[in-house]
Amino acid sequence: MRSLESTQFILFLAFLSFQTTSPRNLACPTCLEPLSRHGPQGFNRAAIAKSILRCQTCSKDFPSDGTFIDLTLGANRSTWQETLPIGVRLFRTKWISLIYEENWRKSFEKFGFPGPDREVELAETFLQTAVDPSRPDEENLLVDISCGTGLHSRRFAKSATFTAVVAADFSEAMLIQCHALLNEKQSPWNEKVVLVRADASRLPFASGSISAVYSGAALHCWESPSIAIAEICRVLRPGGVLVATTFLPRWKSKLQTTQKFMRLIFGTKIFFFEDELDELFETSGLVSYQKIKIDSYIMVCARKKQVPASNYGVK
Ligand SMILES: C[S@@+](CC[C@H](N)C(=O)[O-])C[C@H]1O[C@@H](n2cnc3c(N)ncnc32)[C@H](O)[C@@H]1O
Repeated sequence: MRSLESTQFILFLAFLSFQTTSPRNLACPTCLEPLSRHGPQGFNRAAIAKSILRCQTCSKDFPSDGTFIDLTLGANRSTWQETLPIGVRLFRTKWISLIYEENWRKSFEKFGFPGPDREVELAETFLQTAVDPSRPDEENLLVDISCGTGLHSRRFAKSATFTAVVAADFSEAMLIQCHALLNEKQSPWNEKVVLVRADASRLPFASGSISAVYSGAALHCWESPSIAIAEICRVLRPGGVLVATTFLPRWKSKLQTTQKFMRLIFGTKIFFFEDELDELFETSGLVSYQKIKIDSYIMVCARKKQVPASNYGVK
């Protein structure tokens, strides 16, 4: 009799700790409506890993596999595969994810990338201006789009600027390695990192719900940077900030033809000429465009326009 009572008590406690909530940020990749979440309380890695996200409109569930939640249009599909450019497929291979952080990424320093610690420090000077302490915690999160193995997500989580970091990437292999490194490099801050599989061209976040977006060394890896920037503009709340880094060519004139040829093969940009990057941002709908350049490394920052309240009631 006693053990029956204690079992009932444990079940009651489990019921209390599992809740259905509407976090208002994660959204269905199909209809872009906010998802409801059934799982433990809190927006952190453990809670999201044990949660099921549900789209009430499309009647679809997005469960976590314990590593990440798949919020791409390919979620729940086993046979269907999009035809992707080589440049995107490359990062989905396991071997690239395994050598990425210690080998591949370190080679960027030869091109002027100042290294992850400094890159995060530089980005934070812009990103922290998007934080509003008067907002609820789940609204002051940072989305690290194309996080790769999470080298920047882990560092952002360590700083006190954001309550949580969504580490998002299209590559399952990168997310698995990101998860492994979060476990290996144990630190209390790593719990702040929530892993989501997401396509930069179809971001699974509700419109106007995100304060800050960072994307390290990825603009040139996206199949359509202009669609991705439009998506980022959609998900940022007014006043929200985007910081992104990418490569500029070193020898402009010689590279015009090489670049065209490489773009043809990889199906992605590989690097940007500065004028095309400027145009991409200056026509994106984002404002206050700023740049930091070190050799071939460029960090760009832009903000979503604040719409004055008086503009809503157009006469
Ligand atoms: C060069 S890595 C950058 C990783 C990390 N942010 C860094 O700074 O090292 C580029 C990343 O972009 C991701 N990627 C490519 N296409 C994507 C897409 N459509 N949506 C989201 N991520 C994408 C790749 O999977 C890869 O992890």
